[in-house]
Order: sequence, then C-alpha cells, then structure tokens
Amino acid sequence: MLNERLNRYISLCASVSRRTADELIRHGRVTVGGQPILDPGAFLDPGKGEVRLDGNTLVPLREEKIYIMAYKPDNVVSTMKDKEGRQTVASLVGELSTRVFPVGRLDYHTTGLLLLTNDGELAYKLTHPKFGVEKTYVAKVMGAPPPASLKILRRGLPVDGVMTNPAQVDFLQKREGKSWISIRIAEGRYHQVRKMFEAIGHRVMKLRRVAIGPLTLAGVEPGEWRYLTGKEVRDLNAYVKQREHEPRDAPAREPHAGKPKFVPRAKRPRPAVSEEASGEQRGPRQPKPEWKKPSKGPGFPPGPRPSKAGVRKGGGVQAPGRGGKPGR
Ligand code: URA
Repeated sequence: MLNERLNRYISLCASVSRRTADELIRHGRVTVGGQPILDPGAFLDPGKGEVRLDGNTLVPLREEKIYIMAYKPDNVVSTMKDKEGRQTVASLVGELSTRVFPVGRLDYHTTGLLLLTNDGELAYKLTHPKFGVEKTYVAKVMGAPPPASLKILRRGLPVDGVMTNPAQVDFLQKREGKSWISIRIAEGRYHQVRKMFEAIGHRVMKLRRVAIGPLTLAGVEPGEWRYLTGKEVRDLNAYVKQREHEPRDAPAREPHAGKPKFVPRAKRPRPAVSEEASGEQRGPRQPKPEWKKPSKGPGFPPGPRPSKAGVRKGGGVQAPGRGGKPGR
C-alpha cells in the first residue's frame, strides 16, 4: 500500500467516491494508528497502524473490475487529462470509486464507442496489434466512392508509406452528395480511417466508432455512459482469446456482431443502397435508418438491449448504491 493516497484507500475500502472519501477525511472520521488524519492527499504509511473509519477498521477489498461504455461526443479528447484544457472523457464519467482509463483512442472529432476499464489485461489485449482487434466505424464522406475505390480500401492501400491490412467495407447509403460507409479495420494507426478515405479522394466529414470486436455502441446517447453487461464482458474476453489464435490480418469473420446491419422498411438485403448506384438519389426524405441515429449505430444486434441502469449523463457522479452493477 505504499504510494497509496489515503483518499484512494478509503474510497476502495469503503466503496465510496474519491470526493466522499475526501469529505470523510476532512471531517476527522478517519484515523491511522489512532490519530485523525485530515489531509485527503496524505500518503498512507502502513507502518503507522490500522486505518479506521468511525472507529471501524478498514480492510482493503480486492479492486473490482469495472467496464464502461462511453459515447464520446465530438470535441472531447479521449484521455482522462488534457494539457490544453479541452474537455476529456473523464468529465463524461465523473468520479468513480475506482480509477478507469480509456482503451485506445479516438480523434478529437471522432465520436462513438469508447471503452473505459481498470482491467489492464483486457485493455492490453484490445489494443496490442498482435490481437488484431477489429474496430467498426461509420464514415460520412464527401461524394460517392465508386466500387473500384471501395475495393482498394478492402484490399489495402498505402497510408504513410505502409500498406493497410484488408478491411471490411460496406456502402450504406448515398444522399445529397455524401455517402455513409461502414469500415471495419483490425489496425489502429493514427487517423487511419480518415487517411484511407483521403487516399481514395473522399474526405471524411464525420466518423463514428460503432463497435469494438463484438461490443456495439448501444444503450447510450452521445455524452452518456453505462456499465457493460456481464455478457458483453464475457463476449469481449472470448473474442480476444479467439483473436490471439487467428492470423493477425485475417479478414473479418462472418457473422460479426459489429457488422453494420441496415435493414430498411422493405427488409431489403444489405447493402441498403447499392454501391453500384450512380447519380444522386433525390426524392422524398426517408426516415432515418437505424445506423444513422446517434445511439443506435450499425450492428446493434437484435435482442435485449442493456439496461439503462447505470447510464449517466455527462459529469455524472457515481454514488454508492447507485448506478448499474459492474459487469462480471
Ligand atoms: N481512424 C481515424 O481516422 N480516427 C479515429 O478516431 C479512429 C480511427
């Protein structure tokens, strides 16, 4: 417990937020070796004796693993701190009893699925290139890339002088000079998706991550978060285990939970708007397809949606006894 601050220790042992722990300490309710300690930032010295709260000895609990899905909005950095003072994902999840960190990054202007956890092992597997974890994005691009260009994206193309691995690319829709394209890649190079589209001459106007492996962005609106369900955590673990034993650049397998599913009213098979279609599609506006709505991106599998319990608007503070149960 050396290098552990007293407030963190109290927060873990008593399952309270760091802020609540600070208050308990400031009010003199915490003693170490019988002496009240009033500085929440004090380091804990185990040699000084038992830590007590209101006279009750605190026993360190094993840190519970928590898994959070956040819907990163535009103009938010996907780190917990920012030197430039920009809004961070930390402000979305507020204060939790356990410190979590984001798994991988999204660009400042990319929205969508961001996983936060204190499970270092799973985070490592989800981000290390050797596991080749697939991430699915929906890109809104200028113009309408012809089939030949999409084929280039699928096969791989040089980005910063290095070929990209095969990608799964699905043309979703074209409207008013813009197209929506789903792209699933198993790499995570800097600005990779934007650069891939740039390379075929189609600037990305909006980019949203809708899936990480089998985990799909569902049950949260932009700026909100929720705990993963137990099933989602199990599926993620099973997925990384499977990826470990597959070739690194193996094309995405089918079926895949993260695969964008766009089934228009007439239940036409995908792709909804053929990539072969040419010319602008004008006419009466159609209702927004599922994948275009902010909280229900492509690939949301049918079936029970995660409970809203534990969903917090930006800046929410987790209080003991509130919020969804962390997934196990
Ligand atoms: N590719 C990008 O270009 N940006 C992201 O944020 C993620 C993937």
